[in-house]
Amino acid sequence: MTSILILNGPNLNLLGQREPAQYGHATLADVEAMCREAGQRLGVAVQCLQSNHEGVLIDAIHEAGRGVREGRVLGVVFNPGAYTHTSVALHDAIKGAEVPVIETHISNVHAREAFRHHSYISPAAAGIVVGFGVDGYVLAMEGLVRKYRQG
Ligand code: DQA
Repeated sequence: MTSILILNGPNLNLLGQREPAQYGHATLADVEAMCREAGQRLGVAVQCLQSNHEGVLIDAIHEAGRGVREGRVLGVVFNPGAYTHTSVALHDAIKGAEVPVIETHISNVHAREAFRHHSYISPAAAGIVVGFGVDGYVLAMEGLVRKYRQG
């Protein structure tokens, strides 16, 4: 069974307590449980990783790229948190690893501060899901399956 990596960047470990008006009340554990449940429905295995460290996220994308080449991995649902707006290194990692990434944001970043309007990730992403709350993770998984699963 191919797998999807649910990859969360900085501060997303604080989901549930962090700015609930912006991000809601679900915890990261709730989100990951929701994704695992969706994986069962969609017939894909689900791996989850959260890190506050850019290099760890880069390594995870490289590893996912190896998985795609070996037919083990379908792609990555990636919420890069604030690295969205700063990280050329993550942009380069996605391009270099040639891994389908669905960039996912819980909030509608375009309706927020101007510094959140630019994404270094979007030009390297296979798709973008923005502003659907934590349901966006499942929508992104569905998008990956529809776009990339063969047979
Ligand atoms: C976020 C939006 C980013 O601007 C912010 O830095 C986050 C979360 C979102 O999911 O809405 O950490 O990626």
